Order: sequence, then structure tokens, then C-alpha cells
Amino acid sequence: MIQDKKVLFSGMQATGNLTLGNYLGALKNWVTLSDEYECFYSVVDMHSITVRQDPATLRKRARALLILYIAAGLDPEKNCIYYQSHVSGHAELAWILNCFTYMGELNRMTQFKDKAARHADNINAGLFTYPVLMAADILLYQADVVPVGVDQKQHLEITRDIAERFNNLYGPVFTIPEPYIGKVGAKIMSLQDPEKKMSKSDENPNASIYLMDDPDTIMRKCKRAVTDSESAVLYRDEQPGVKNLINIYSACTGHTPEEVVKEFDGKGYGDFKMAVGESVISVLRPLQEEAARLERDKAYIDGVIRANAEKAGYYANKTLRKVQKKVGFPERVR
Ligand code: TYM
Repeated sequence: MIQDKKVLFSGMQATGNLTLGNYLGALKNWVTLSDEYECFYSVVDMHSITVRQDPATLRKRARALLILYIAAGLDPEKNCIYYQSHVSGHAELAWILNCFTYMGELNRMTQFKDKAARHADNINAGLFTYPVLMAADILLYQADVVPVGVDQKQHLEITRDIAERFNNLYGPVFTIPEPYIGKVGAKIMSLQDPEKKMSKSDENPNASIYLMDDPDTIMRKCKRAVTDSESAVLYRDEQPGVKNLINIYSACTGHTPEEVVKEFDGKGYGDFKMAVGESVISVLRPLQEEAARLERDKAYIDGVIRANAEKAGYYANKTLRKVQKKVGFPERVR
């Protein structure tokens, strides 16, 4: 706890083009929760290099993502928005936690299995220990709550297991974090295959709405979204394509799925898809405009980067020193 408020930590990778799934599943909730908690929002660039990256592209995307956090409504005066690689404590704690994590636990991670299958030529140790770095991110700030989409739930569980194991050995060092998973939007599915999650790494560009897509592209993708032959806007598992579009519309407008079903009672898929497209455009357009404006304000963004890395480093070091002492590292001599 920092000054009476509970602590929130979350992060996003600057890899690939961010999708509407990233926004509705995570970023949007971050903004809603930001008043209630002391928040740390990291651009997790260290996680990104578990898969080969072009350095210049990674650098550019990392900055664009940091700007996007602010454009989405996170005030960098109140929320600590920073690059993971600027705070060395993440790597240092990850090393220690590696020694408290079992191979068997990491072997069970579905994201590792997926990524290892997709990048069979580069199954590096970082990809395998990725969840440990994620645990370090969260535990370093003594986070109480971690807002994520459904796909990160397993990583939260292993974080809790590692923290509990450490606490059982050394006393209450780490706060045990709770995941926060939103009611709608926590799992946005592909527009082309509603059984699959919408993902930045999908090869079919029509499967995902990217946060930087222009209005015509958004509308076209919504119109092409795979539905079914029922011709009724109903919220049920038998109609996964329609259910996904209801979730998107619901997350973008704030209407509940039940209200959406009523609103489109007796209407066809054509009208519904147009309305979904419009709701997405109305959410993404201001975000894109604000990001473009901030992009031009180099001095301001650089100031945010500098100040927040320092702030994050301060809190990270507090936990790190405590952990180093517990495991028996010699104290620093002043
Ligand atoms: P990443 O970068 O893949 O995704 C960022 C956030 O977006 C959510 N998300 C989705 N939500 C709903 N529907 C979707 N289709 C969808 N796709 C992605 C993710 O659940 C996530 O919340 N390992 C993490 C980054 C990370 C992290 C952390 C998160 C590193 N350290 C510590 C929280 C706390 C990742 O790769 O997310």
C-alpha cells in the first residue's frame, strides 16, 4: 500500500499492432480503475524480446504505446507510466524468483506452448521463463490488483503461487495480487474465426481491428465479420460471432448485452454490424487524435518518461532490497 491507496500494476507488450482486444480487455479498464488505485502501467519491452524484434521498430512501437496509455486517459502525473527496461529491478527480481519457480510449473503455461509452436526456430529460455518476469513486474510494486484479459489469468495464478511460496519461506514479503477481469471485453474474439481470440499476431488482417485503423477500415472489417444464418441478434454460445459483436458493442457503448439484444430485436445483421462499426469508430477516433497530438509534443513525453522511470525505480528498489536481504545477499556498505 502506498499512501492509503491500494496498488495496481499492469502492462502491455509493444509487439505488433495493438488490437481492439487489447483496448477493451485491458486499457479501457485501466482508465476506469486509475482513480481508485495507485497505478503502475508499464510498457513491457523486456517481454517483447522473447520473440525476435527489429530494434528500430521495437523502439518506435514502445514509444507509441506509452503515448497511447496517456491518450487513452491515463494522467501521467497520477499514474506511473514507464518502460520496463528503464527499471533494472524487474530483471533483478526475476532472477531471484527464477530460483523459486519450478520447471514443471512453467511447462504447463499455455501461452508458452502456443508461442513455442509458432516460433519453433527460437524456443529460447526467455520465452520459457517469461511468466517469472511477469511475476517480478507485479510483485516488485506490491500490487493488490492486476487488470488483464482472460488470456493472462494463468500467468496471474503462477504469480500468486510464486509469491505464496516465497512468503511461506521468508515471511510476508509480497502482497498476493488479485486479477481484475472486466465483465465484458475480457475476451474479444477474432472477427473471422470467433472461436479464436483476437490477436495482434493473426495473419489475416480482417480478423482484428487495430487501434490505428481508419474509420473506413473499421467499418469494412465489421461488415465482413463472420456471423451465422440465424439472422437474430441474440447473446448465446450457439452464435459465437454475434456474441462477440455484442460484446464489442457493449464494451464500446456501456450498454449491457441484454440491452443490446433488446435494441436490435427484429433488426438484421446488416444494421447491427453498422452500429458495431460506428461504436468502435467513436471510441477509437478520439484516441487516435489524442495520440497524434501527444506524438508531436516530444519534450512533454520525454519528461514523463524521465520522471516516471525514477518514481517506478524508487518503489521497485524498496521491494528489491527487502527481498535481497531475505534471501541472504550481503547488505550494501555505505
Ligand atoms: P499482451 O501485450 O499480449 O496484452 C495486453 C493486454 O491485453 C489483453 N488482451 C485481450 N483482452 C481481451 N480480448 C483479447 N482478444 C485480448 N488480447 C489481449 C491481455 O490479456 C492483456 O491484459 N504478458 C502480458 C503483458 C505483461 C503483464 C505484466 C500484464 C507483462 N507483465 C504484468 C499484467 C501484469 C501480455 O503479453 O499482454
